[in-house]
Amino acid sequence: MKNQRSDFPGDFLFGCATSSYQIEGHAFGGAGRTQWDDFAATPGNVTRFENGDKACDHYHRYGEDLDLVKQAGFDAYRFSLSWARVLPEGRGQVNEAGLDFYDRLADSLLERGIKPCATLYHWELPSPLLDLGGWRNRDIASWFADFTQVIMERIGDRMFSVAPINEPWCVAWLSHFDGHHAPGVRDIRATARAMHHVLLAHGRAIETMRGLGMNNLGGVFNMEWADPADDSEGARAAADRYDAIYNQWFMSGVFKGAYPQAALDGLEPHLPEGWQEDFPTITAPLDWCGINYYTRKLIAPAGHPWPDYREVDGPLPKTFMDWEIYPEGLYNFLTRTARDYTGDLPLYVTENGMASADVLEDSTVEDPARTAYLDAHLDKVRQAIAEGVPLKGYFTWSLLDNYEWALGYEKRFGLVHVDFETLARTPKASYHALAKALTT
Ligand code: FCB
Repeated sequence: MKNQRSDFPGDFLFGCATSSYQIEGHAFGGAGRTQWDDFAATPGNVTRFENGDKACDHYHRYGEDLDLVKQAGFDAYRFSLSWARVLPEGRGQVNEAGLDFYDRLADSLLERGIKPCATLYHWELPSPLLDLGGWRNRDIASWFADFTQVIMERIGDRMFSVAPINEPWCVAWLSHFDGHHAPGVRDIRATARAMHHVLLAHGRAIETMRGLGMNNLGGVFNMEWADPADDSEGARAAADRYDAIYNQWFMSGVFKGAYPQAALDGLEPHLPEGWQEDFPTITAPLDWCGINYYTRKLIAPAGHPWPDYREVDGPLPKTFMDWEIYPEGLYNFLTRTARDYTGDLPLYVTENGMASADVLEDSTVEDPARTAYLDAHLDKVRQAIAEGVPLKGYFTWSLLDNYEWALGYEKRFGLVHVDFETLARTPKASYHALAKALTT
């Protein structure tokens, strides 16, 4: 790895990220049923019908995993809290074992000198709340605020930072328009409601945590750079629509109290009544802004009704997800976010990494493509910092190979290889390269 810790400002944080359903093992410890259990149990949704019952069994092996975080030289660890582990029905009765687990996790991080960076929601909605409409139902903002209160009363005093919702685009669009993620809905009215309620819930959670006296609260947005597939005006307009829906809607809502017109063109008729009146809550001030970045898309018109776009296969080298490797996109988002939305607010790259077809041989995994990917994106991080972007940290996705949602356990994103039969952990060559860069 070319980049070294000494190439970054002294207070720059390096971290790695995970999420609860993807690693914990949801069958353990009294967690309630979630929309991902239901989605996975419906044939056709998930590769090999896999679910998160066992995952990496992080629920029992978190000590070993946090040792790996420590030994790599990371300063911070981004993890998420399962709503259904804390409140198995989504509301009401608390699962004490769930609270105890996150309590132990917080203490174990602090004992190792690692900053705990929590996300309240990384997609495992409790099934009973989906029965009530899930993200379509405006009441979800109150249910989510109540969950926030319960868990943060217990562990909020030890969190370095907290973000309410991981990747609102995935929660709303990917899951209610594309139908690729749970609950697998394809419906424009459900989408519009989810697009708005996810931000209302974000705002309510921020208000709840402020009420508890907490600080260093932020938002985590996923971004995909959209380039027109050709020079036509139609392709430019299609890419702009993609950008408005994917990248601008959520940041614009949170930081400007308005939605972009190119997205309203299709969604406005389906938004819940009185949506404009929710912006005072949605724009609750934040202390930082996180960006998850992986790739870009080439976009062309599809000849369909709104949003009328389709993805076109791109020419760049791709990862095992078939995602083009495009570090410039990260630079573009960091500079654009600071310029158009956040100004002096600290920014973090809260996820960045790649899947590869890793093979364990003679107790090692050679994954030079991952090391090169991280290095190329760290170059862009440095370039943005040099140009004055107030970027304060970078988190790699992910610590462990894990449950990659609809793609099951096939797509390995970890710095550490996991054998899903024996659950043995083996740090890959990229882990060692990063550890060397961070600790020497
Ligand atoms: C992000 C998700 C994370 C993981 C990576 C590959 O969108 O936040 O859970 O699936 O992509």
